[in-house]
This record gives sequence, C-alpha cells and structure tokens, in this order.
Amino acid sequence: GQRTFTMIKPDAVQKGYTGAILNQITEAGFRIVAMKQTQMTTEDAQTFYAIHKERPFFGELVDYMTGGPIVAAILEKDNAVEDFRALIGATNPEDAAEGTIRKKYAESISANAIHGSDSDDNAQIESSFHFSGREMF
Ligand code: GTP
Ligand code: MG
Repeated sequence: GQRTFTMIKPDAVQKGYTGAILNQITEAGFRIVAMKQTQMTTEDAQTFYAIHKERPFFGELVDYMTGGPIVAAILEKDNAVEDFRALIGATNPEDAAEGTIRKKYAESISANAIHGSDSDDNAQIESSFHFSGREMF
C-alpha cells in the first residue's frame, strides 16, 4: 500500500494519549512500518517545518515541537496520505469533525496533537528525515 508519515506531537505525548491515538490509527487499518519516541532539536524542527519559516507562528511552532518528546511513525494503507488526513481532522481542532484525532485530543491550533503528511512526496521526505531504511519493516 501507500505510505504516510505521522508524529504524535508533544502536547498529546505529555498528556498520555500515545496509546489511545495509536489504537485509533491501527483500528482504522494503518500498518506500522516504523515507530519511535524521540525529541526534536531546534535545528530539526526548523528543517522539518522550513516551508512555514516566513509564517508569523514559526517561532512558536518550533518551540512547541521541541518542548518534549514526540512519537514518530511511518504508516501503510491504501490511500494512506488522504485517509490519514481525514482520520486526524482539520488543523484547528475547533473545525475538526467529530471523532477525529484532533477533535478528541488536540488543545488548540498550535498544540494540535498530531501531524500527517500532506502529499506522497512529503511523506517520503519526512519519513527519511526521521528514519533510516534499517528502521522500516
Ligand atoms: P501538520 O500535519 O502538523 O503539518 O498540520 P496541517 O498540515 O494541518 O497544518 P499546516 O501544515 O498548515 O501547519 C503546520 C502546523 O503549524 C500545524 O499543525 C500547527 O501546529 C501549526 N500552525 C498552523 N497554523 C497555525 C497558527 O495560525 N498559529 C499557530 N500557533 N500554529 C499554527
Ligand atoms: Mg502540514
């Protein structure tokens, strides 16, 4: 199947939602190809989110993403990128559909619990940013 990349973000890990979120992901039919708990450095977050570097919230985003551990994973399923974006819900949890991961677990637009790649190309780039080939199964 197709692959996507996700991170359970520091707010959700800190609140102990990792297990519940992973359960919802696997129940939705995604297979875990790779997974680890890690913490991003400032340089990591600036690189990962370079596309947003001109945005007014960039500094806040980098501080938030480096503030505690994340759980990074590569997921496999037919139509993985699109289906995973649907499973997590809108960027702002106030706009997220009922039952989505962000609706259930996110605090705010800035602390929004989870990331999902927005294209096949970005899924590949983001997966290889966090994982070596030896960590993918
Ligand atoms: P990701 O899956 O994390 O990439 O989220 P997204 O694709 O739904 O949103 P986008 O790529 O546009 O923004 C990336 C991240 O920046 C979001 O998930 C938020 O954490 C953060 N972000 C986006 N918009 C805002 C904003 O207006 N204010 C703040 N503080 N953070 C924002
Ligand atoms: Mg995005």
